Amino acid sequence: MNKTSIKNTLNLLNLYKESGVDELISSRPKNRTVRKKDYVSKKMQKSDEMNSAKVSEEINLEGINTLEELKHKMSTFQGCQLYKSATNMVFSDGNPKSKIMLIGEAPGHDEDLQAKPFVGRSGKLLDKMLEAIDLNREKVYIANIIPWRPPANRRPTEDEINSCLPFILKHIEIIKPSALMLLGSTATFAILRNKEGISKIRGKWVDLKINQMTIPTMPTFHPAFLLRQPGQKKHVWTDLQSLRDKIKQK
Ligand code: URA
Repeated sequence: MNKTSIKNTLNLLNLYKESGVDELISSRPKNRTVRKKDYVSKKMQKSDEMNSAKVSEEINLEGINTLEELKHKMSTFQGCQLYKSATNMVFSDGNPKSKIMLIGEAPGHDEDLQAKPFVGRSGKLLDKMLEAIDLNREKVYIANIIPWRPPANRRPTEDEINSCLPFILKHIEIIKPSALMLLGSTATFAILRNKEGISKIRGKWVDLKINQMTIPTMPTFHPAFLLRQPGQKKHVWTDLQSLRDKIKQK
């Protein structure tokens, strides 16, 4: 390093310090001296590699008929890169014999550590919501669209959703619920491919057809959204009552 670059580096570090940056978020140094053109081409190369990984990892679920077989298949799947940064795969919780299946988006921090869906703050609210219609974890079955935590709890990308979709569809097929509730816009879009937003279609029953089965399915707001917008809880209360009525008819 010559004198000028040392001075520039010190200036940069001072700037970081003054802005309150006191921690590195990567254990590997990043080469910021590389020319933009090289960087872009490397990035494109990387995304090509990822796409080819995706293509080569076709999911064959033929012969998968039980939860154990499905869980094993998912645990060896490498077509969705999220498994690399996750601590655990989060498969499901609750009663596999339940008539009700709930599907969320993806695990967060607590779920990733405990390998169980909905155990963090939104999970606590979900438990309260279930309690309000006399349900609990022993009476419902819960899974997510994506079984691995996206870094920093970001939303899963469309590619990630599509690569994991066959698993959750198989999961529904194995559980055969009498009613399915989709928690939030990601789960709703993944399963229903709706054009309208969640506010428009929440609370409405639609028939989901999977492998000659027809499953009454209702989207509702995600508990994490309700934590940010408690005023919307009244809508979910109506949706839960409708779920309770639906199950009574079965
Ligand atoms: N949010 C989800 O959608 N799923 C979880 O398991 C936890 C939080």
